[in-house]
Amino acid sequence: MADFNKIYRSYLERFNAHLEKFCDGLNKCTPSVLGDSLVYSLRLGGKRVRPVLMMAVADIIGTGADKVMDYALAIELIHTYSLIHDDLPDMDNDDFRRGKPSNHKVFGAGNAILAGDGLLNTAYSVLFDECFKGNEYVSAAKYICDCAGIHGMIAGQSADLLHEKDAEADEETLKFIYENKTSKLLMAAVVVPSILNGGKYYSELKELGKKLGYLFQLTDDILDVTGNFEKLGKSLGKDEEEGKLTGIKVYGLDNCKLRVDIIGDDCIKIIDGIEGDASFLYGFVSFIKTRLG
Ligand code: IPE
Ligand code: IPE
Ligand code: MG
Ligand code: MG
Ligand code: MG
Repeated sequence: MADFNKIYRSYLERFNAHLEKFCDGLNKCTPSVLGDSLVYSLRLGGKRVRPVLMMAVADIIGTGADKVMDYALAIELIHTYSLIHDDLPDMDNDDFRRGKPSNHKVFGAGNAILAGDGLLNTAYSVLFDECFKGNEYVSAAKYICDCAGIHGMIAGQSADLLHEKDAEADEETLKFIYENKTSKLLMAAVVVPSILNGGKYYSELKELGKKLGYLFQLTDDILDVTGNFEKLGKSLGKDEEEGKLTGIKVYGLDNCKLRVDIIGDDCIKIIDGIEGDASFLYGFVSFIKTRLG
């Protein structure tokens, strides 16, 4: 795990340096409130799980992290936009994110909507720039768009809203929500390096992304009950307050923890099938299983 932490930190620092350069450009928007609201949420940090995972997978399967840096950037822009919108009063109504007031608490709901829109459009512009390099770059960009879109993350967020306050805690619906709102961006993170390398381990990585997303959202739902604000940087108990259809509601807390172990094992089995030094991925699974933030 010591090694894992070290490698995670080095990917994180490399990604943050890349993002920071990008933020300097975003800051030059007119009116300045637009630039300020865009970089506010990006610079708050966050774990950068998706970019780090993408870079690590790229190195493991021989694509090379350098090749995916702008895809990692695009995915973090999309993820950050999804958080800004997720926190809005008419969505999850969350006042805190990444340890600081949510975007709409600082800039107002209107500006927060625009900041989210701005990050999404900018992500697509970054992806279009990559497309000039060749067909596989186009396929990789399209994969991210589809995962983020109406048959991906947006579908999950839509179902998440639709099933708030459901009387019945339906497992199939939960699965749909998890697989779309969370798994799809993690699938994009691990599949892009494959697409840029002739489809190497495509189906294994796709399945891994799906399971990792499931694992990630299960732990997120657990942490909403058992976490602490300092580590998590967001309010606790919001899921119950908003009547969300969560793992806790469907399985109960103890069974959720059991499922974390089962799905963690499923991830390990998939990683076992990937040749080369995949030790970072084993560490990643255990990081998600035991995370506090
Ligand atoms: C939060 O994502 C939203 C979920 C999909 C549960 P993260 O936990 O990756 O948030 P940051 O980027 O670290 O803030
Ligand atoms: C959010 O899920 C998933 C997104 C696509 C943003 P949650 O609503 O559970 O995420 P948190 O708990 O607010 O970070
Ligand atoms: Mg939500
Ligand atoms: Mg939320
Ligand atoms: Mg949550």
